[in-house]
Formats: sequence, structure tokens, C-alpha cells
Amino acid sequence: MTLEQVRKEPSPYGIDFFIYGVSMCGIIGYVGQKNAPDVLLQGMRKLEYRGYDSAGMAVVGGRALSVMKDVGKVDEIHSRHDFLSLRANAGIAHTRWATHGGVTQANAHPHVSSDGAIAVVHNGIVENFRELRAFLQSQGFRFYSETDTETIPKLIEHGIRQGLGFVQATEDALRRIEGRYAVVAMNKDGTVIAARNGSPLVVGVGDGEYFAASDIPAFMDYTKRVVYLHDNDFVVVGRNGLIMNNLKTGPVERPIDTIEWDAQRAEKGDFQHYMLKEISEQAETLAKAVKQDEGTMKRLVDDIQNAKHVVLVAAGTAYHACISGRYVISRIAKKHVASVRASEFENILHMIDRDTLVLAVSQSGETADTLEAVKMAKTSGARVVSIVNVAGSTLHRESAYALLTNAGPEIGVASTKAYTAQLGVLTLLAYALQGNTEEGRRTLEVTRNQAYNLTAASMRANIRTLADVLKGKEHIFTLGRQLEYGTAKEAALKIKEVSYIHVEALQAGELKHGTIALIEKGTPCIAFFSEANRRETLSNAQEVRARGAYVIGVGAETDPVFDFFIKVPEVGLCNPILQIIPMQILAYQLAVLRGKDPDRPRNLAKSVTVK
Ligand code: M6R
Repeated sequence: MTLEQVRKEPSPYGIDFFIYGVSMCGIIGYVGQKNAPDVLLQGMRKLEYRGYDSAGMAVVGGRALSVMKDVGKVDEIHSRHDFLSLRANAGIAHTRWATHGGVTQANAHPHVSSDGAIAVVHNGIVENFRELRAFLQSQGFRFYSETDTETIPKLIEHGIRQGLGFVQATEDALRRIEGRYAVVAMNKDGTVIAARNGSPLVVGVGDGEYFAASDIPAFMDYTKRVVYLHDNDFVVVGRNGLIMNNLKTGPVERPIDTIEWDAQRAEKGDFQHYMLKEISEQAETLAKAVKQDEGTMKRLVDDIQNAKHVVLVAAGTAYHACISGRYVISRIAKKHVASVRASEFENILHMIDRDTLVLAVSQSGETADTLEAVKMAKTSGARVVSIVNVAGSTLHRESAYALLTNAGPEIGVASTKAYTAQLGVLTLLAYALQGNTEEGRRTLEVTRNQAYNLTAASMRANIRTLADVLKGKEHIFTLGRQLEYGTAKEAALKIKEVSYIHVEALQAGELKHGTIALIEKGTPCIAFFSEANRRETLSNAQEVRARGAYVIGVGAETDPVFDFFIKVPEVGLCNPILQIIPMQILAYQLAVLRGKDPDRPRNLAKSVTVK
């Protein structure tokens, strides 16, 4: 679709019909000597894990701005429209994950001003879009999409009509926006502006070229030098290079960091999917996770010991790491540790005060629910420390300090290696609290070696036999006690999100209080057990077996109760790290056998940056 088509196309929605068009997406901008569409297309492919409903690109060549956008995955759109038919040295692009507004060509980004001179890509929410839209309509602007984003190029255009230049008008527009955003705006003279408030955005600094993107893999083939933008930062890339301002404080200088990941770590290599590659990397990533700075670990041990209450907070998979983490920490530190889902944090706010230590756990460091919880905790006077994978992320910066999980880029939407890295750090912390960091390191080293064996081809072949049995099932139950309950929850989430089979996780003892009514002949039940709870969990396994269940055991020694057994060595407090690995493989294989794309499960996005 050309710009002309975008502008002239009548709105299919009419004036009064408007759906709240929130999006959660990947954005990228480029200015330099290379052909911008090449760079942007590569970047869109790398960012597609953040959203894959629709995608688009706007580029400037010969002082004309062209837009191409459509619904579908990046390569599907490319095969229909050929992004590379455009030629330019500056451009912006977007991959979209819609939450409210429909998946339509009109809602896809970039959005443009009425005169076609300005294009904008956006990740976040313009919370006051209704007021802004009504104001702009009163000024004669027409809207062609359901999105909140479309207000941004039109606000900028309004400023220009009032006599402002592009930069000043964009600054003005962003000051009028309420809500979280990462925005990249481009004028037809090739000036590109990158700005953030609450949503992720990093700038890449190359040799005479600049990138702005939601995540580093979008441009890491070209440069490893990055500037992590802070909230309200406003960066202009034009003829004079890079000019950096903060909308609240004025001109700023931000350090240029050199990232340590190499581009290969964000590539699939010989693997068919990122998910399988990331599962297979876990022996290596665990080794990196436990290489924590002694001083920072000691500081956290002191903070935990000095706090009256310790609360672990996270979402999704990271929360499951907290379920197991709270057991290991409270057992060893002899201190009650609570864990709460980030989206529920507000409901325990009355318990949070200056004597509370909040330990936030996240892969991306950009999950809106977790960031919101951290904000509330800080407002209540609590100290916030994080365990986070992405250095420089919002969570990293909002925390007093952080332990980095060092798992490298995780591209598969289903979190795998980041989860075991989080467990590794939490377990090491537990040993450190006991004053036994060295013992912790040794146990984790044994665990890491076993993780290597569990990701081997022989394990994949064994699990494939099980996947064949389970692939046609509608329901699966997972059972575990104590530490293994975290594993049961995470195994259920993994299988659900990539294979779309319904899986329910239960604390094994709870089964007989209701859910056992669902067990019938052939119902699969996966029981995780350790030496510490073997007897009790096996007796629960016996209960479901007696009702005809197909019982799968995951633990160190088999038992006649099991129809299928997955042997995982006993490593005590590290059991959750090992027992989840065959389940990640099972989830992956179920997805593939059922014809689903495990890297891009339906309705999901990698980082949930909206509430
Ligand atoms: O980036 P975070 O760790 O904060 O993300 C939290 C969840 O959104 C995430 O773990 C999600 O549950 C994964 N898709 C699960 O595989």
C-alpha cells in the first residue's frame, strides 16, 4: 500500500465507532548510509517475537515518504508487497500485537499525518486519545484507523500548522500524551525522533548511522554500541547526528554501552525454532546465571536479613520461578517469604512499607504489571531489588540494584532458558543466605552438567514417544508439592501456551478436594516428585491411577504406579531447574506435532508491556 492509498482510503469505521486501539509491539528506526528497507526488514524479523498480527514500514527517499503495511507475519506481507522495492536511507518500521483494536491494514503501523509528511510507529497506550482525537477532529482532522496511535502524527501536524518545526511539534505532541509510550517519528526530510516514557526503546550507534528499537537484536548485526534511553528521553537523529534531550530535564548525555552478546546468540542457527535452541542452551546459560558478583549478592543477603517482610513479585513464568524461589529462600533463611503475582500486587499494598524488601523477577524487565507493582512498592517506601535478564531495561533502572540472570537474548515467546536462569540465581541466593555460597555453586555446577544431559538428543527422542501419546489429548493435569508445585505450574503454562492443550496444575494434595472428579480412563497426569516428598506424591499418583489416569512420573527413581517415566537426577533444592527441562521439550514437541508455531503462539507477545 502506498502513502497515497493510505491517505485516500475512506475510514471503514465511521466517525462514531471507535475501539480502544492499544498495541504492544516491536518498533525500529534507521538513519544512515545503508538501504533503510534492508535494515528495517531484518529488524522487523528480529522483533517479530514482540507481535506478529501485522507489520509495516515507512521510508523517506528523495524527500518523499512511502508507507507499506498490512496484516499478517512480516514475511507474508513482504511476499505480497515487497518491502525491498522501496529505496531510502531513513525509515521506521513496526510489528504489531493488538490487544483491543482489530487486526486490520488500517490499524497497522506506521500511521501518517494527513499531508503525508510525517509517519509514526508506537508501542504503548495514549490514554487520553479520546480527548486528543476529539480536539483534532474539531480542528478538521480525519481519522482512518481504530488506533490511539493515529493521534500522534496528527498532533505533530497540528503543531506544524501552528508554525512549529517538526522537532518542536513532536516534543509538544509528546507532552500532551498521557500514558506509556515508545515512539519513533519521521519527517519527510529524513529526520527521525525516538522518544520513550515507560515502554522500551534503545538507540544503536553505528559508524555514521543510528538505530532506535524496542530491543537490541533488531540491530545487533550492525552495531554493539547502545544507549539505553530513560523515561522522557527525546532523541533527534538528523543531519547534525544525534541530539539528546529529556522532556523533563533538558539536554542530557547518556553513556554508550557495549553489549556483550554476539549476534549469533539471537539467531536460530541450525535449530528449527528459537524455542528448541533456547531449551538446548540451558547448561551454558545456567553457568552464566550463577556467576554473580559477590558484593551484590552479599548486599542482597543483608537486605533480606534486615527486612521485616520479603515479597517476590513477577508475572507468568517468572512468577513460577518465585513459587519455587520462596520455598528455597524461606527454608534456608528461616524467614517467611511471600510471592505475589504482579497484577495482584495492589491488593497486598496495605502490607508494604519501608521495612519491606520487594524482589522483582523478570526476563524482559519491561512487563507492565511488574513495573507497576515496583512503582507502587517504591511509593509505599519499600526497597526494590530485581533479578532481571535484560540489562538496562526499565526494571533494571527502577531497582536499587539488580542481579542479572545473564541468559542472553530470549527470542522464543515461551520463556525457557530465562526461567532456569532465574531459578539458578534464586537458589544461589538461598545458599548465600545460609552462608554457603560455595556449596551452592558446587550444587549448581552438578545441576548444570545434568542439564546438559537432559537437553541431549536421547532425551528428545524419549519425550517424543510421550508427545505421540499426548498429542491428541484435550486435558492434562500436572501435580507437585513444595518446590515441585512451581514446576507443575510452569510445565502447565509451557504446554498450554505453545500446544494449546488445556493443562491444569495442582498441589498434589489438593487433587482429592475436587479436581479428581475430572479424572477418567486415559486422562494424562504428570507427577513431579523429589526424595523429600516421594511417598506423599506417589500416593497421590496412586489415587489418580486408580481412576484410570495415564500417569507420567518425573523424578529420580521410577515406581510401578507410572505408565511412563522420565528420569531426572535428584539435586535437592535444584530439582526445579532440572525437572522443567523435559517438560519444555514436551511442550515444544506437542506444538510441532499439532502443527503450531512454538516461537509465535497465537494471541501472545514476548513482553506484555500493557496492563
Ligand atoms: O519478561 P517477563 O519475565 O517479566 O515476562 C513475564 C511473563 O509475561 C512471561 O514469563 C510469560 O508468561 C511467558 N510467555 C511464558 O512463557
